Amino acid sequence: MKNKSHQTMRAVAIDEFGGIEKMKPRKLPVPQVASDEILVQVDTAGVGVWDPFEREGGFAKEFGMKTNFPHVLGTDGAGTVEQVGEQVHSLKRGDRVYGINLMSPKGGFYAEYTVVKANNAAMIPQALSTRDAGVLAVDGVTALDGLDKTLKLKAGESILILGASGGIGHLAVQLAKRMNARVLAVASGQDGVEFVNRLGADKVIDGHRDDILKAAHEFAPNGLDAVLLTAGGKAAEQAIAALREGGRAAYPNGVEDVPQAHDGKVMSYNGEPDPKTFARLNELIEGGPFEVHIAQTFKLEEAAEAQRALESHYLGKLALVLS
Ligand SMILES: NC(=O)c1ccc[n+]([C@@H]2O[C@H](COP(=O)([O-])OP(=O)(O)OC[C@H]3O[C@@H](n4cnc5c(N)ncnc54)[C@H](OP(=O)(O)O)[C@@H]3O)[C@@H](O)[C@H]2O)c1
Repeated sequence: MKNKSHQTMRAVAIDEFGGIEKMKPRKLPVPQVASDEILVQVDTAGVGVWDPFEREGGFAKEFGMKTNFPHVLGTDGAGTVEQVGEQVHSLKRGDRVYGINLMSPKGGFYAEYTVVKANNAAMIPQALSTRDAGVLAVDGVTALDGLDKTLKLKAGESILILGASGGIGHLAVQLAKRMNARVLAVASGQDGVEFVNRLGADKVIDGHRDDILKAAHEFAPNGLDAVLLTAGGKAAEQAIAALREGGRAAYPNGVEDVPQAHDGKVMSYNGEPDPKTFARLNELIEGGPFEVHIAQTFKLEEAAEAQRALESHYLGKLALVLS
């Protein structure tokens, strides 16, 4: 096997935490693989709405960790396994994989190569391209953990998904349908409504225009069983108000302006990657046509522009393409 450890790669890194101007295209050494890790040749890197928080030092502060600068940005992505550590038996060279790298001391996915803990990566479902899988890992795991582990969604239950045309939302709509739930999707804009209708939601409304309480009452006259909030504000408040007695609401940490209920029915959680969650996610995705939507791609060197675009209205996710 050709050893990449003495070679350099193109990457976008920061020398200190701060604004978008700190992001610089660089030549950096290819990171070295430890025994429980894999080296991935990156095809696509996800550009998450939380990436600016990484760049500004928010995660480093939250986790109380020291950061190795230059720090290569990017928390998820997909590519091909180039090398595996000696303890890794689940993956091999040449496998198409997707995975998560949150504040790894060896850097993230905004690079030609990245090192990932094998437990934080998985084979890409056959039906998905490597490109599309590049934006799947964090939002897919977070969508599934919300529906499954946190809300404990059961077949036949009704669920409202707020932000249904966004990163987590469009995946959650499809996963909840695979779990045989009834899905009321609250999307953003007319384009969002058309997009989520195509994904198979039972009913789709525009959360910026339509009356959420009225739609929820028509959809579930006795109240909703569950609500997954990927956005906050008045829309989230209305979604929570539409729950039945004993109904559950959840939001991933990071969502801003989420109303707190005093009876404990609003739960916060984090998406936690592990082999079992990836296996369940892949199994659900393999169950039929599944769309992982990339609204716009950028070249690696345009990473700063991609992070600026996070502020605009778009469907699904943004991505950097390396190949
Ligand atoms: N803790 C964790 O493990 C974890 C993991 C992943 C993500 N997160 C957090 O989860 C949140 C969502 O992540 P994401 O990747 O899904 O972000 P996203 O793609 O920005 O999704 C949020 C969506 O909500 C839409 N939206 C906002 N207000 C709405 C309304 N009133 N009606 C309908 N849609 C509305 C937004 O569209 P417009 O902008 O067009 O309105 C956007 O499409 C973020 O805060 C992120 O940081 C946490």
